[in-house]
Amino acid sequence: MVARPYAPHPGAGVDDDAGRLVAEDERKRLGEVAVHDVEVARANAARGDPDQRFPLVGRLELDVLDRHRLSHLPEHGCLDPHGREPTAPPSYNRAVRAAVLREIDRPLEVEDVDLADPGPGQVAVRLAASGICHSDWNVITGATTNPLPAVLGHEGAGVVEALGEGVTDVAVGDHVVLSWLPSCGKCFYCVRGRGVLCDMAMADMFAGTLPGGSLALSQDGEPIYHYGFLSAFAERCVVPEICCVPIREDVPLDVAALVGCAVMTGFGAAVLRARVEPGSVAVVYGAGGVGLSAVLGCKLAGAQAIVAADPVAFKRKTALALGATHAVDPRTEDVAELARELTDGRGADYAFDTAGAPGVVAQAYVAVRRGGVVVAVGLPPEGETADLPASDLPREEKVVTGSFYGSCRPHQDMPLVLDLYMDGRLDLGALVTRTFTLDEVNEGFAAMNAGEVARGVIRF
Ligand SMILES: NC(=O)c1ccc[n+]([C@@H]2O[C@H](COP(=O)([O-])OP(=O)(O)OC[C@H]3O[C@@H](n4cnc5c(N)ncnc54)[C@H](O)[C@@H]3O)[C@@H](O)[C@H]2O)c1
Ligand SMILES: [Zn+2]
Ligand SMILES: [Zn+2]
Repeated sequence: MVARPYAPHPGAGVDDDAGRLVAEDERKRLGEVAVHDVEVARANAARGDPDQRFPLVGRLELDVLDRHRLSHLPEHGCLDPHGREPTAPPSYNRAVRAAVLREIDRPLEVEDVDLADPGPGQVAVRLAASGICHSDWNVITGATTNPLPAVLGHEGAGVVEALGEGVTDVAVGDHVVLSWLPSCGKCFYCVRGRGVLCDMAMADMFAGTLPGGSLALSQDGEPIYHYGFLSAFAERCVVPEICCVPIREDVPLDVAALVGCAVMTGFGAAVLRARVEPGSVAVVYGAGGVGLSAVLGCKLAGAQAIVAADPVAFKRKTALALGATHAVDPRTEDVAELARELTDGRGADYAFDTAGAPGVVAQAYVAVRRGGVVVAVGLPPEGETADLPASDLPREEKVVTGSFYGSCRPHQDMPLVLDLYMDGRLDLGALVTRTFTLDEVNEGFAAMNAGEVARGVIRF
């Protein structure tokens, strides 16, 4: 099947032959919109609750500063940072080994699939490593719906191998983390620095395609769908340029892969969404790849006590090794009671649901103090609801929020996280507890579900 072209930044405001420069007047207009938003947000904050947990104004100000400093939009950079000319697309069409899900509740089948040439705005990446995330498992069980057959995998890192027409932000040979959440840079959310909520990404997320509806995968002329805009359980993948986050080359690529989902999600939930404060008390439900990353984030942010709650003993032990001060089995111990004991009876300042099991958000709600923050990160099966005590909501002023992809801005936050790792301040290496070959992908899922790994990683 022939890939339909993907226009990375469709519509007005896009210049020319390079196809990527935002026109001057559009840039100015968007800059003014952002400045206006900051003023409105500042005025709202001045009238509102001084104990506001999410300093939106600060974030917006940063966005505006970034924009003015870089003097371009959208946020991920339309200008060629390397000063290179766009490269002509090579001939790339090739067969690759990939793990295909054909039906829910069936093992993945590792077989040859056809990978198209990278189209305009697309990049071909040779995978070095792909982490095994519970969100892939949600597709296998049908808890999350995605068109099938599909190549799963959304936590990858590798090396850029070929460029489609007009690609200027990465070059062949660059090491990249793959982001599973492209953003258009132009919609309501993107211009406010909230690319994880991008209209374009949300529209296509469950279509199993690349942004704009194209597919780079097929087999004998039949379509094969993507997952998370990537399909990283494959030797190679073709992804939108904006999904490639260039990183320093001294980072081991299996560690970098985890930053593509678990680390950014858990760390970001703590540091970027909740903005955990020094001296605070946090509870993290679930100590898988995401939860352990939240523990690391809480520790870096200076939390005084971090309670990890997980039914699996190995996970609790790992959480303690990574900085949790307490680790409990929620089946036999009262997590909320422990949180109160640690806080003169108040309850935790923050609680993170990274388990994704039904009912955990409600438990987290009970574990936090009045005005505390509950961050829902785990993804229960579609259709599940979170049952909260409605009359307590107004009285207790607890903040219940979600966090998607750690509320991150991939091009800014992923390199930052990797710098922290390389500086020895974030022990991401400890998360890679076992590696698998692509052929062993089903064993990787079995190990995750048996609670035997912090993160299982496929090495190519
Ligand atoms: N919000 C996002 O952007 C985002 C991104 C990635 C993953 N996720 C979701 O986050 C969740 C965690 O992903 P993961 O890859 O770390 O999964 P994982 O399977 O590695 O870890 C989940 C952990 O939760 C524990 N657990 C299960 N039931 C529990 C309960 N009732 N209380 C406490 N702990 C419990 C398990 O023992 C396990 O250690 C999944 O639901 C996944 O789909 C969300
Ligand atoms: Zn994931
Ligand atoms: Zn957008």
